[in-house]
Amino acid sequence: MPDRSVDAHTRSRTPGAGVGHPTLATARLTLRAPAGSDVARIVALAGNREVSHFLARVPHPYSAADARAWLAYLQQAHAREVAFALDDGTGLIGVISFRALDETPEIGYWLGREYWGKGYMSEAAPVALGWLFGATATHAVAARASTVNTASHAVLSRAGFARTGPDVAGERDQTFRLDRAAFFACMMI
Ligand SMILES: CC(C)(COP(=O)(O)OP(=O)(O)OC[C@H]1O[C@@H](n2cnc3c(N)ncnc32)[C@H](O)[C@@H]1OP(=O)(O)O)[C@@H](O)C(=O)NCCC(=O)NCCS
Repeated sequence: MPDRSVDAHTRSRTPGAGVGHPTLATARLTLRAPAGSDVARIVALAGNREVSHFLARVPHPYSAADARAWLAYLQQAHAREVAFALDDGTGLIGVISFRALDETPEIGYWLGREYWGKGYMSEAAPVALGWLFGATATHAVAARASTVNTASHAVLSRAGFARTGPDVAGERDQTFRLDRAAFFACMMI
């Protein structure tokens, strides 16, 4: 029987080389492995403070060395993250990633500022989630978004996520969870 566990998936993929890292498509976007040729776009887009403001793991200012370090990490055999570059045909316009692959994976995403409000993330997130649930034995995906990040809440809600927190009063972030069954039920509607 094939081993469909997340860990097996993580070990087998090498995103930079495109081996074991699928290329997915939506109506307007290609979801592919991020590559060294994306560094300049990542720096230009993720370097915008409006973009990184809500991203815990994207420092500001953001340098080419930061981007290269992230890409190098993704290609390591023990990486616990898999990431997709969102490409509209002109190049990378954003990223979706799943971290903590060996636990409950957590989705994270961003788009360059000029690409907001066009429905791109609502279009791409379900396809990336469909791949994760289809290619691995993942039971649930977690998410975290600032209380005021209404665009992100809308993306999560549309993909079927339910709010689970915060558990602690005064916590800045809201937490969300999407169970495998809930995702497929949401996609049937
Ligand atoms: C969050 C983010 C990825 C949303 O992507 P997007 O493609 O712009 O979102 P969509 O166009 O699919 O819009 C989703 C919903 O949010 C709404 N929306 C979009 N931008 C908005 C904004 N600035 N303020 C309020 N609502 C907004 C849309 O109208 C849509 O609502 P609807 O479903 O009722 O029509 C994007 O704003 C972004 O990259 N932000 C910075 C990084 C970030 O916050 N990442 C998430 C961290 S948890």
